[in-house]
Amino acid sequence: MENLVSLTIDGKQVTVPTGTLIVNAAKKIGIDIPVFCYHPKMEPVGMCRQCLVEVGRPVINRATGQPLLEADGMPKIQFGAKLETACTTPVSEGMVVIGTSEKAARGRKDILEFLLTSHPLDCPICDKGGECPLQNLTLLYGPGESRFIYDEKMRLAKHYPLGELIYLDRERCIQCGRCVRFQTDIADDPVIGFFNRGRSMEIISTSDPGFDSYYSGNTTDICPVGALTTADFRFQARPWELCSTASICPHCPVGCNLTINLRREASANGDLVIKRILPRQNELVNEIWICDKGRFGYHYTESAQRLTQPLVRRDGELVAIGWDEVLSYVAENFTHAGKNLLALASGRLSNEDLFSLNELSTGLGGHSALYTHMAGGDLVAQLGVGNGTNLSNLGEDSVILVVASDLEEEAPIWWLRVKQAAERGATLIVANPRPSKLERFASQVLRYSYGSEATTILAVINAMSAKQNFPKAPKFQQGGEVVKTAAEIITKAANLIVFYGSEGMGLEASQALAQSCANLLVVTNHAHRKNNGLIAVWPRANDQGAWELGYRPLLNLKDAFQQFEAIYVAGADPVGDNPSLAEAVRDAGFVVVQDLFLTETAKLADVVLPTQPFTEREGTFTSGERRVQRFYPTVVHAELRPDYAIIANISKLAGLNLEDSALRIFNRLAAKVPAFNGLSYRQLAEVSEQWPIIGRSDLYYGGTSYANAQGLGVHLELPAQIPSLTWPNVPELNLPEGAILAVPITILYDRGQTIYHSQLLHRRIPPAHIAVHPDVAQRLSITDGTMVNFVLEGTPFEVILHISEQVPPGVAILPRSLGMPINSPVPIELKVVKEEPV
Ligand code: SF4
Ligand code: SF4
Ligand code: FES
Repeated sequence: MENLVSLTIDGKQVTVPTGTLIVNAAKKIGIDIPVFCYHPKMEPVGMCRQCLVEVGRPVINRATGQPLLEADGMPKIQFGAKLETACTTPVSEGMVVIGTSEKAARGRKDILEFLLTSHPLDCPICDKGGECPLQNLTLLYGPGESRFIYDEKMRLAKHYPLGELIYLDRERCIQCGRCVRFQTDIADDPVIGFFNRGRSMEIISTSDPGFDSYYSGNTTDICPVGALTTADFRFQARPWELCSTASICPHCPVGCNLTINLRREASANGDLVIKRILPRQNELVNEIWICDKGRFGYHYTESAQRLTQPLVRRDGELVAIGWDEVLSYVAENFTHAGKNLLALASGRLSNEDLFSLNELSTGLGGHSALYTHMAGGDLVAQLGVGNGTNLSNLGEDSVILVVASDLEEEAPIWWLRVKQAAERGATLIVANPRPSKLERFASQVLRYSYGSEATTILAVINAMSAKQNFPKAPKFQQGGEVVKTAAEIITKAANLIVFYGSEGMGLEASQALAQSCANLLVVTNHAHRKNNGLIAVWPRANDQGAWELGYRPLLNLKDAFQQFEAIYVAGADPVGDNPSLAEAVRDAGFVVVQDLFLTETAKLADVVLPTQPFTEREGTFTSGERRVQRFYPTVVHAELRPDYAIIANISKLAGLNLEDSALRIFNRLAAKVPAFNGLSYRQLAEVSEQWPIIGRSDLYYGGTSYANAQGLGVHLELPAQIPSLTWPNVPELNLPEGAILAVPITILYDRGQTIYHSQLLHRRIPPAHIAVHPDVAQRLSITDGTMVNFVLEGTPFEVILHISEQVPPGVAILPRSLGMPINSPVPIELKVVKEEPV
C-alpha cells in the first residue's frame, strides 16, 4: 500500500501518495498552477518561479508530537513568510496551499513582468501564438504594462537553425531549460545546452550535424514559448486555424499514437492539407513522445512522385489505364491463375488490407505470403507480452533482455522506454555482437559473434538448467562467466520481457532466435503474465498483424516468381531491395504491384495499382506489443483507393464477395481470427483518463502533445495454452577461411520507400556504405573513406568504406535498405576502387 497524505489546495481536499509535488496534487483535482520550467515527465528544477503559491503547514506541539488546534478544533496552520514553488515542494499531511491569494497573484505577476523584460513582441507572427503558455499566462496573470523600457530588450538571433529540422528564435527563449533537460535526461542525447550567462544566455547545439538526435522534435512540443519550432511548420499556419485527426505512426512496430493537424488551403482548392504531426498521449505505448521519423517522415505522402493512376504494360511500356478496365484485367488473370496465384504483402499494409488480400488469394485457391527478412511472429502470437503490460511499470523486480537489436535505430520509442525502465531500477541485459547506445544503461552485456544469436540464448537456458532443473537445450552450449551472470539475473527476476531483433540475421536465424527466446520465457515461467513476454523488433509497423492473420514468409522469392502464374505484390519492393530478383520478376507470368510509388518492382510489373497512404484512409495496425490501434482518414485523395477497397473491387469481379469498408472488414476479421475475437472499432476507440493529464487548455503543463480522445487500442489476448517446448534448428554459419563476413544491420533513416520520399529527412540518410573493423582495413591496406567494391547476390556494388572499432573483427556491417541487397550474413571479397579516400 502506498503511503497517502491529505491536504487542502484552494479550499479543496485531496489525498495523494507521499512525495507528490503540490503542482501535481493540484492537477489531480482540476486546479492548474501555472508553470514554465516544470514538466510532469521530468525532474523539477525550480528555475522560473512561475508556480509560486502560499504554503501553510500544521504547527506541531514539540512535546506531544501532535498538531496544535485552534479554538474551533481545527489544526493551527503556520504560513511561510515567503511564497514557495509548487513544482519542487512535496505535499505533507495537513498542508494548506493557496494559489488564489493576492500574494500568490503578485508573485506570478512579477515573474511574468520579469520574463517579458526581454521577450520580443512577436505574438502576431509567432508560430506558438494561440497555444503559447507565455501568452496565455500573461493574459491570465500578467501585468497590463511593463515598468521596463522596451528599447532595453536584448536583441538576439532569430530563425537560427539548431539543425535542419529545428529552428531557434533566440530572443524568444525564456531559459526554462526544458529542451536541454529533455535531451540530457530523457533522450540521453546532450547535444544542446546553455551558453553564456544572465540575459545573454542562449541555447546552442554542440553536435555535427546540428541537433543530432532522433527525438529533437519533442523539444518543440514542450518549449513553453515560440523559441523552438520545426522546419516544416514554422510560419505555416496559426494553431487556431488547424483541425486534427488521430493516427498511428506507420514507420516501426512501436505504434506511436499521433495527431495530424490540418488546414484548408487555397493552394489545394480548399481541401485539407497536413500542416504537422504531433504526439497523441498513450501512456501504454509512446507516453507523450514520438521520434523524428514519426514526426517528419509523413512528407512522402505529399510527394509529387506518388502514383496517381493505374498503369498497364502495353508494347513493353507502362501506360495509364482506367480503373474499370484495369480491375477487370487483373481479376481475369487472377481467376485464371487460381491456385497459382500468390499474394505477397508486407507489414506496411493494415490488418484490413492483409485480411482481405488473404481472403482473395485463398478464395481463388492461391496462397499468401509475408514479405520480410525476419521471422518468429508465430511465437510472439503465443508468447507475446501479457495483457496489462506497460513498459512504464517495469522497475526493480524486472529484467529486460534485448537481443540482436540496436533498439534506438529500429524502434526509438521502445529504446526510450526501456532506458527509463533501467533508470527506475529494472535490470537490462543487452546481447549484441557490437555496442549500441542502449548498453549505457545495461547491467550486463552479452557480446556474442554473428551467427551465435540463438545459441547464446540457449547457453543462458543451459546455465540455469543445472540449478533449476530446467530442460536443457539438446546441443549443450557452454556459456562463459557473462552468460552465467545473465542466467543468475534472470533466475531471480519477477518479470522478464525479451525484445529480439534481426541484426545480422535472415529468416532462418531469426526464427531460431525467436524460438530460443520463447523457450527462455517458458522454462523460467515468464509466459502469459502481465509485464512478461516476447516482443519482436519488426522492420515494419504491422508485421505482427500479418503473422496474427496467418501470413508467413517465403524462403526463396526467386523460386516463387518462377513458380506462380500470377503474383500480387502489395506494399513491397523485392527488386528494389534485391536487384538480382529483376530477371525473375521480368520472366514471371503476371505481376501486379500495388504501391504508392513506381518502385523498382513496379517498373517491371504488368499492372501497377496506385494506393493510399495511412493519412488518406482508415484501418488498424497491430504493434509489436500486440496492441491493435486505429488510424483515421485525414486528407482525401478522390482518385485513389485504399488497398482493401482495390482488393474488394478485384474480388467482386473474380466472383468473390469481400467487404469494401474498413469497419465491415474488421468485423469479419474479428469473427474469423481467434486472437481478434470480440474486438470492434468501437472498443479500439475507447479511452480512459491517463496520468499526467496533458493536452487541455493549460498547455504550459504538458506541452502541445494531444490528449487521447480517439482510442488507446486493445491488447490481443494470448491463446489459453502455453506452447510446449520445441528446440530450434540453429542454422550453421560457414565462413570460408579468411573471408570477410558481411552482416546486415538496421538504421532508422534509410532509403525505404517512405523515408526516401520525405525530402526533409534527406540530409540524415547516409549514402550506401559499409563499415569494417580496423583488422580488416589493415589486412587489405584500406583507409577510412576509401571506395571499395564487392559482389552481393551476383550484383557488383561500389560504396564508401568506414573503419570502426565497434565492428567485430573479420566483419563488415551493411545497413539494410541503402540499396545493397543483404538480409542475412554472407561472405564477401572487398576490392579497392580508389586508393585515395573520397
Ligand atoms: S528554447 Fe524553449 S524549452 Fe529551451 S530553454 Fe528556451 S524557452 Fe525553454
Ligand atoms: S518510434 Fe516508431 S512508431 Fe514511434 S514515432 Fe518513431 S518510427 Fe513512429
Ligand atoms: S519554478 Fe516551478 S515551474 Fe518553474
